[in-house]
Amino acid sequence: MNFGQLSWGKTNRLAQIFRPNKKGEHHTVMLAVDHPYFYGPTTGLIDPRKTILPIVPYADAISPAKGTLEYCLDPLIPTPVILRVTGGNSILRREELSDEHIITSIEEALKLNAVGVSISVYIDTEHQSQTIKNLGKLANEAGKYDLLVLGITAVGAKLEEKVKGEGGKGDKDFDPGKYFAHAGRIIQENGANIVKTYFCENFEQVREGIQVPIVIAGGKKIPEKDALEFTFRAIQAGVEGVDMGRNIFQADKPVAMIQAVKSIVHEEKTVEKAFEIYNDLKQ
Ligand code: R5P
Repeated sequence: MNFGQLSWGKTNRLAQIFRPNKKGEHHTVMLAVDHPYFYGPTTGLIDPRKTILPIVPYADAISPAKGTLEYCLDPLIPTPVILRVTGGNSILRREELSDEHIITSIEEALKLNAVGVSISVYIDTEHQSQTIKNLGKLANEAGKYDLLVLGITAVGAKLEEKVKGEGGKGDKDFDPGKYFAHAGRIIQENGANIVKTYFCENFEQVREGIQVPIVIAGGKKIPEKDALEFTFRAIQAGVEGVDMGRNIFQADKPVAMIQAVKSIVHEEKTVEKAFEIYNDLKQ
């Protein structure tokens, strides 16, 4: 992993999140639980005190928004926190999803003892400029205290149709690798220390175009073995880890699933072996 030429504080915070394996290579399995900031009560996070507390100890880091952190997570758990600080939108207004602002201040993030902050950036949407400006402003503020900035390649309503082809409206000329490389590099250049993106075909161009550590979002819930498959392919393609939510906390057995994901990310297990680990732990 490329720690770059960052300050001592940022390097130390990166090292808290990205853990070394036996070969000294740094990877991470972050648990994304920030969904309610725009989804409301999300399946698996309706009452996070009941659902995610058993999973958190297995995560290298967690990424909640402020409400889940303050009201649902135990402050005695030492897992590093990357705090979601943007919002201003709701899934009930899908067409306005990209209209985000910085909601939670850097002072709040410091008080909550976060090691970093996360922000969505919506490239090629109506609010592209606004969300890049949010990132620049946040990076300037976070930089004063050596807090890390995790920049998320967010897909708004229009891009979701192109990327995922929801409702059969996929754009066959759309090249996800090219888009995610483009978006991720802009996010890096405007101040992110970690880029969160989606795994896709032709991922080589995404990896090549982005020099900061990359973590992969999980996306909508898919069968456990399929989620392990794309995790394996992403690690093979050179990403530093995952920031996975629904494919862990909505899994049939979330505690088993996070350990199976970790076996790929940290221990170089194959998909078959990781699925075996999942099934064994399920018992
Ligand atoms: C979305 O904006 C949030 O940042 C989620 O944390 C992100 O999508 C990762 O979660 P999932 O693995 O469920 O996609």
